[in-house]
Amino acid sequence: MGKEKNVIGSVKWQSPSNIAIVKYWGKKGKQIPINPSISFTLSNAFTETEITFSLKQTSTDVSVNFIFEQSKNQLFENKIIKFLNDIKSDFEIFGKYHLQISSKNSFPHSAGIASSASSMSALVLCLLSVEYPDSKISDETFFRKASYYSRLASGSASRSLYPGFTLWGKTEHLNSSSDDYATTLNFIHPIFNDLQDSILIVDSKQKKVSSSEGHRLMENHPYKDARIKQANDHTHELIRALKEGDFKTFERICEIEALGLHSLMMSSKPSYVLMGENSIKIIDKIREFRLKTNLNLCFTLDAGPNIHLIYPKSNLKEITSFIEKELLVYCESNKWISDELGAGPKQLNKSFYE
Ligand code: PMV
Repeated sequence: MGKEKNVIGSVKWQSPSNIAIVKYWGKKGKQIPINPSISFTLSNAFTETEITFSLKQTSTDVSVNFIFEQSKNQLFENKIIKFLNDIKSDFEIFGKYHLQISSKNSFPHSAGIASSASSMSALVLCLLSVEYPDSKISDETFFRKASYYSRLASGSASRSLYPGFTLWGKTEHLNSSSDDYATTLNFIHPIFNDLQDSILIVDSKQKKVSSSEGHRLMENHPYKDARIKQANDHTHELIRALKEGDFKTFERICEIEALGLHSLMMSSKPSYVLMGENSIKIIDKIREFRLKTNLNLCFTLDAGPNIHLIYPKSNLKEITSFIEKELLVYCESNKWISDELGAGPKQLNKSFYE
């Protein structure tokens, strides 16, 4: 790119989405989760964000211009400005530079895939690369800060900064755990190292109730205490299963967490349902297929109707054929997305012109 007037440099990051096995649902204080959560980072579902920064004249206000997939997007820009204003006292760059931010997702906008984890982590990685241009901080500190600020933008985004499995939220079962940022789990049994995530698109429409509203409804939820206990127990059990390569325990926790998340929505006040009729049909088919074949596979759902089918790569052939023959009829326009456990964020560019 040619140097425009006042442009000091540009940075670009690619950051992935993640899928939670133990779900984060409900928060307190400043984006502190009411329970620990565990996810794995995806590979193909990612956001690419570039920030070009130029000297600004006087104002100390945050000055940004945001372009999403080549068009102005006022809704996203307002969300970003609000977040940047919340964190601006920790950064010098907002006082010095105007930021031109452009962003795009690898997955279709209308796929019903949550993009806040990938988009917010990509944005934060760019901000930190501008704030710390001379690699004065170690990689460990850099990614921990990235996780910390991503959490403030969107809780689940805190878990997208690392490869493989990640835990966010304090638990007595992992010394390095914290409510402020996520940590990577580095004791994973090889059976989980090549997990596949086939995302069956049941409905790509925007959800009726946002995750922010869902977290809020947990504040006075009648099952809140039981949910916190369950999530802590699942975290403990899942850590053990991930260490030992116990797929059956992984499977059980993964499905109870998914159905539990949706049960919490159905029993909120007001109650709401985000699953669809076809989500249930797919779940039945998966359980039937598992009983018949004895293969390692399980499902999970995010806060929406789409089904994530999770299995080791060794089952790819049988499960792809199962999806094509028996599940695609329940998907919107036969749509599904193939993803897998990924290697974490990647810096794509760093150019400073001075
Ligand atoms: O990060 P948020 O505020 O969009 O919440 C996401 C919550 C779930 O996706 C439903 C679960 C999770 O842990 O990712």
